[in-house]
Amino acid sequence: MEPISEERILIIDFGSQYTQLIARRVREQHVYCEIHPFTTPLNKIREFQPKGIILSGGPQGVYEPDAPICDRGVLDLGVPVLGICYGLQLMVHLLDGKVAPSARREYGRASLSVVDDSDLFSGFGKNAPVDVWMSHGDKVDDLPRGFSVLASSENSPNAAVADVNRGLYGVQFHPEVAHTPRGGEILANFLMSICGCSPSWTMSSFVDRSIEQIRTQLGQEHVLCALSGGVDSSVVAALLHKAIGDQLHCIFVDNGLLRKGEASYVEEVFGKHFGMELTVVDAAKRFLDALDGVTDPEKKRKIIGQEFIGVFEQQSEKFSRCGYLAQGTLYPDVIESVSVRGPSATIKSHHNVGGLPEKMDLKLIEPLRELFKDEVRLLGQTLGLPRHIVQRQPFPGPGLGIRCVGDITEERLEVLREADYILQEELISSGALSQTWQAFAVLLPVKSVGVMGDERTYEETLVIRAITSQDGMTADWARLPYELLAKFSNRIINEVTGVNRVLYDISSKPPSTIEWE
Ligand code: XMP
Repeated sequence: MEPISEERILIIDFGSQYTQLIARRVREQHVYCEIHPFTTPLNKIREFQPKGIILSGGPQGVYEPDAPICDRGVLDLGVPVLGICYGLQLMVHLLDGKVAPSARREYGRASLSVVDDSDLFSGFGKNAPVDVWMSHGDKVDDLPRGFSVLASSENSPNAAVADVNRGLYGVQFHPEVAHTPRGGEILANFLMSICGCSPSWTMSSFVDRSIEQIRTQLGQEHVLCALSGGVDSSVVAALLHKAIGDQLHCIFVDNGLLRKGEASYVEEVFGKHFGMELTVVDAAKRFLDALDGVTDPEKKRKIIGQEFIGVFEQQSEKFSRCGYLAQGTLYPDVIESVSVRGPSATIKSHHNVGGLPEKMDLKLIEPLRELFKDEVRLLGQTLGLPRHIVQRQPFPGPGLGIRCVGDITEERLEVLREADYILQEELISSGALSQTWQAFAVLLPVKSVGVMGDERTYEETLVIRAITSQDGMTADWARLPYELLAKFSNRIINEVTGVNRVLYDISSKPPSTIEWE
């Protein structure tokens, strides 16, 4: 495959929780970059032809016996290198400087003073105070030969250092996090002034290039796409449709566990507006039959996953001319990272179409493999997808099946759908939706007594779950205004028969998860 951009930055990962953030910050400067593990051999790094290299942070100390150490040759390739935190320490260690444990771990905000207005701090001015975020237990005691100090803080005299002649730079702080407000400028200085990159990685250049690649890869082959209506599969479909038009065949499975109006909306957008070949399969009965009497969350997930594969396989027989299956795999899924993954990957069995391609003897096409989520949204926007789809919140594959706690019946799903619809309406009209990462309703099989007019009621409980998050791995409950909560409760209890009590979920993740099942 053609390289995605002529100007590439290589990020070598030493296991920092912030490595992906570095990549996103680089791309925000419109420079293409990839993350590769510290074990990547030097010849592969040479082949990649980076215009610059960033060494990420990492949780270990360079002097520990099992510390991650990359090939020393990366410092001799003649391309600029920026070491961040552990990356700085490793650079110093490899060049025979001295790194030692600090007497006290430094964690949190610090103020730097720029002592040398080198290219890295271009635009900052000498002696300018710079707020930065520190998180390290080790410090650089002795600089390698040729290095000098660019900026210092009270606790870290060697907070930013460089051997300008060799293009080797290192910072003890984290320019990639939001707590380093001018971190973007520092990274931009490294990318543009020091590495000589230009801001040429844009979505429209990506669209042109990837359409060309898709056409070359596929030729006359036809592609099957499982369209879910979520951001990723929608953008995959829109991109492929632009590239290969009628060679694309989309299947949308209505499993009966979707939000109100979802199936008709997808048909409207993709079938009518975009004119894609779209098959909508109404499989609600099949799913609900299979779920009859099942209350165990894991069993529900497994059944929904299996039924999906069953329906999809059955349908795909009609598309035997398809040699490819499209998948909305994103860059975070393919990074061969040494970072520690959060616990949620294994706590619940996440449903996806993973098993399908081998079973059906299909090759895979994954046109979003290089992109982060925010870039996918931008791509969707560039391709003309409606805002409602591009800005959509994540919706789990098992859908309302895992939000309808207890028995899944058509009646209970209808209650949940109506309540969720009201919730979404109010979130949109109040403008609060965009302040949440996810906001949805959950129906509990817990009945309580109420009174409506003169009548006693005995109905189920609805929970509102609204959370803020960066990536779904950790989350906090959203501090929505009381007035808005009152409105949800009022409307839901009054308008939805079957619910007489509304609760607001105030649990963070961890220890709770975002979904209830
Ligand atoms: P939890 O509940 O594990 O959810 O905190 C984390 C994020 O993942 C979404 N989620 C799923 N997404 N298939 C998906 O595609 C699934 O089976 C699934 N389960 C949870 C959840 O909505 C949240 O955004």
